[in-house]
Amino acid sequence: MSPKTAFPLETLPATKTFQTKPSAVRNTDGDTTPDSLFEHFAWLYIFCREKLFRDDTGRMIRALWPAGEPTAGEKIIELGCGPGFYSCGLAERFPKTSVVGVDRSPRQINRAREKVMALRLKNCRFESDNVLDLSYASSNFDVLIASRLFTVLPDRRRAVAEMHRVLRSGGRCFIAEPRYAFWASIPLYAMWLLAGITHFRNGYREPSKARVLSSSEMYRLFATQPWRNVKVWRDGRYQYALCEKS
Ligand SMILES: C[S@@+](CC[C@H](N)C(=O)[O-])C[C@H]1O[C@@H](n2cnc3c(N)ncnc32)[C@H](O)[C@@H]1O
Repeated sequence: MSPKTAFPLETLPATKTFQTKPSAVRNTDGDTTPDSLFEHFAWLYIFCREKLFRDDTGRMIRALWPAGEPTAGEKIIELGCGPGFYSCGLAERFPKTSVVGVDRSPRQINRAREKVMALRLKNCRFESDNVLDLSYASSNFDVLIASRLFTVLPDRRRAVAEMHRVLRSGGRCFIAEPRYAFWASIPLYAMWLLAGITHFRNGYREPSKARVLSSSEMYRLFATQPWRNVKVWRDGRYQYALCEKS
C-alpha cells in the first residue's frame, strides 16, 4: 500500500480490564430517533459486511504495526464494530492482545458475541456503547479502529474527539471509510427498501444515503484534535486515516 495523500502530521496482559469513566454521562448525540436500521435489519447488514465488503484487515495490520504484529498486551478498541468482523479477526490473529468492540445495536453485538463463542476467543468482547459518548476512561487504549462509521454518524467531530480521548499518548487509530456515496449507500438503500416493504418505514435514525467525506474533509476532520501525526490516503473505493496521539 502506498499512501497517495500524506499530510504532516504504540504491554498489558490479555486479561487486562478496560477502565470505564468514573461518572460517565450516558448521554446521546442529539438524535431523538430510537430505532435503527442496523438493529431492525441486522441480518442484511451482517450479510453485506461478511460477504460483500472489502476486507481491510491486511491494510490495518500493515498501517498499525509495520513490524507485522502488536506487542503482547496491547489493548484495542473498535468503534461501531457492527457484527465484529475486524475485532474478531484481530483477536484471532493476535491472541496476546485484548480487543473490545462497541456498537449500539444489540443484534449486531449478539452476532459478534456468537462469533467469539464459535472461534473460542478468550481475548475479545463486545459492549453496547455510544461512540459519541464512550463509557471508557481517557487514555485507556493503545489502538483504535473504525470502519465505515462516519457514513452514518450525525456528529463526526464528536466521535473523533472521543477517539482521541480514549487513546493513550502514542496510541494510534486506523479509520477506513468508503469514498463513493452510491456504493457506500447500497446497504442503506436495501434496508430502507425493506423498511418500506414491511411498513416500518418511519422513525429510523440513519440517513437515506451514506455520507462520504472527501480526502480533504477527512483530513480536516482529524485535524480538529491535537494528534502528533495524521496521514490520509486513498486506495480504490476506500480512503484511510492513520493518526498518532501526542
Ligand atoms: C455502517 S456500520 C459499520 C459496521 C462495521 N464497522 C463495518 O465495517 O461494517 C455502522 C455501525 O455503527 C453503529 N453505530 C452508529 N452510530 C453509533 C453510535 N452513536 N454509537 C455506537 N455505534 C453506532 C451501527 O449500529 C452500525 O453497526
